[in-house]
Amino acid sequence: MTRSVKIAPSILSADFARLAEEVRAVEKGGADLIHLDVMDGHFVPNLTMGPLVVRALRPHTALPLDVHLMIENPGRYVDAFADAGADYITVQAEACVHLHRVVQAIRARGVRAGVALNPATPLHALDEILPDLDLVLVMSVNPGFGGQSFIPGALDKLRRLRSRLEARGLTHVEVEVDGGVKLNNVREVHRAGGEILVSGSGIFRTPNPAETIRAMKAACAFEAVA
Ligand code: DX5
Ligand code: ZN
Repeated sequence: MTRSVKIAPSILSADFARLAEEVRAVEKGGADLIHLDVMDGHFVPNLTMGPLVVRALRPHTALPLDVHLMIENPGRYVDAFADAGADYITVQAEACVHLHRVVQAIRARGVRAGVALNPATPLHALDEILPDLDLVLVMSVNPGFGGQSFIPGALDKLRRLRSRLEARGLTHVEVEVDGGVKLNNVREVHRAGGEILVSGSGIFRTPNPAETIRAMKAACAFEAVA
């Protein structure tokens, strides 16, 4: 079966002094979404950006803004990120005591709702809530920093997630992968079931980010007909 691939450059590895320019360049190169990593210094050790950056970028791209919240108690900020222009809001399962409520709050704002699983969090954490989701994000690194190595166990997790979704007739739920995704592994990640491939350093730390996106898509397209 052929499955589409979407590339979501993570601006965490972009030049923050030239963010709008960087985003326009990857959009021109064929990016499908812009991934924004929000970190609070509690859920993960790093501190990054908040709704202000989402709002500032909104007028500079027509692409969906894919907001990944690596923060404690993310339900508090759903409205702020929705107001800022997020098209997707993904929360970490580990950060939500009332995950169902948070997912409902995201959807009530007309925003696509995603849940991310850390490498150590089993898929069955989502068993009860899978039909309520628009997206599942499989973390292929421990979140917090760009530039880490892909954890190979994520491939089997992707395959198992894909077969669960198929078995339950939930193939409309998008499967996203985040961490250590680069040109040299996109084909394998896509083959395992990743549809939205997030890549930060693998795109922005290459000499020509637009060309890297085109090469990533070509590698996955070759896979689709193989
Ligand atoms: C990791 C973030 C990622 C990060 C990916 O905590 O969620 O989105 O930017 O960066 P790379 O692609 O460099 O691993
Ligand atoms: Zn991310």
